[in-house]
Amino acid sequence: MRFLELIARKRDGGRIPDDAWRPMMQAYAADEIPDYQMAAMAMAIVLRGLDPAEIEGLTAAMLESGARFSLGHLPMARVDKHSTGGLGDKVSLILAPLVAACGVAVPMMSGRSLGHTGGTLDKLEAIPGFRTGISIQEAEALLVRHNCAMLGQTAEIAPADRKLYALRGATATVEAIPLIAASIMSKKLAEDLNGLVLDVKTGAGAFLPDQADALALARTMIDIGERRGCRTVALLTDMDAPLGEACGNALEVAESVAVLRGGGPADVREVTVALAAEMLVLGGVAPDRAAGRTLATAALDDGRALARFRVIVEAQGGDPRVADDPWGVMARAPITQTIAALAAGVVQRVEPRAIGAAIIALGGGRSHTDDVIDPAVGVMVQVRPGQRVEAGDPLLVVHASESQRLAAALEILAAAVPIGAAAPPKRPLISHRVTAGGVEELPGTLPH
Ligand code: URA
Repeated sequence: MRFLELIARKRDGGRIPDDAWRPMMQAYAADEIPDYQMAAMAMAIVLRGLDPAEIEGLTAAMLESGARFSLGHLPMARVDKHSTGGLGDKVSLILAPLVAACGVAVPMMSGRSLGHTGGTLDKLEAIPGFRTGISIQEAEALLVRHNCAMLGQTAEIAPADRKLYALRGATATVEAIPLIAASIMSKKLAEDLNGLVLDVKTGAGAFLPDQADALALARTMIDIGERRGCRTVALLTDMDAPLGEACGNALEVAESVAVLRGGGPADVREVTVALAAEMLVLGGVAPDRAAGRTLATAALDDGRALARFRVIVEAQGGDPRVADDPWGVMARAPITQTIAALAAGVVQRVEPRAIGAAIIALGGGRSHTDDVIDPAVGVMVQVRPGQRVEAGDPLLVVHASESQRLAAALEILAAAVPIGAAAPPKRPLISHRVTAGGVEELPGTLPH
């Protein structure tokens, strides 16, 4: 069937035949299908959806458009984590060395900041010398030596997804669960994993703010992973407010080091330990989540996770002294400005999208994929929703490199932390756990 007929079929609510996906995505990766036709197909999928077999067909076709890791020779299981992203989400920097130190191999493939959300690669590159642009071969060698490699999607991995994702960004076709799930999973499955833990964010700062959408995305990705023999578990975690205090690349590295040293904000530590426990169970080194938590907590508190972080940073060209004295090696922004409460009351919200927009205005994020970023700038969040403050108490501290950019950020942040009379409803930090078996509510985790 010609591609034009396939577009028309999807437009009219029909199915794409199982054997059509591979030739379609291969032809697209080889520039034999023009972007305007693929954009029409993407929009037809946004409007009509894909059934589970179609999602599987698209995922497999994008996966097979590129190279894959081959890690079957490693003596231990390979498990990765994917976060759908948000503000202050520095968990990968802590989790990868932590889980590696506990005996599971972690090929951590991450992305860059785009829009209001941060990206792990930009955070790692705030460490002087750190190289994230490593090849599959180099990553495999690092996994053999250190159980861990932290890299970006190389040109070799899922090139059809790379091209389609960029096209979706330019044609208002990103926000569709089948396309998001196939895109994420085509890259993750290229890592030759035994297990995958998904951190699916919900709330105002999440890619899909609505909880029902987040659950549907989690279930779709779990279905794709499990069909391909990769045990997949998801936790729904809160992104209605930033995670932790630090938002901005170097600031987040410093906060990650604090958590790796056994300290840091309680919410960052809790999300990290919960995800680590899942990874350690999938990796076969913990019999259950409680045992996984115990292992992960011990590795954070006795310095093993920090030691592994130091080794990985050095192995990827970074300055290992960042593990001991982050501000001894990373650049600090020269200007800081505190935003204080104008009146006494209770913090209603800490608006993640406003903080993300302010970081872009400061030069620390991207509105276009080729923007160069300033690693030193960012925002330190001093309060949490529900916290009581007096007039004059600090709410946010802005770290800036230029006064003009500071002024733009202050304007964006003016209404980012509203103060009111009544306490806002509490939100659980980790609300649900989703597996192939179903959805479980997790009452009693920290409020966020
Ligand atoms: N991240 C991806 O890699 N792909 C999407 O479609 C959305 C988020």
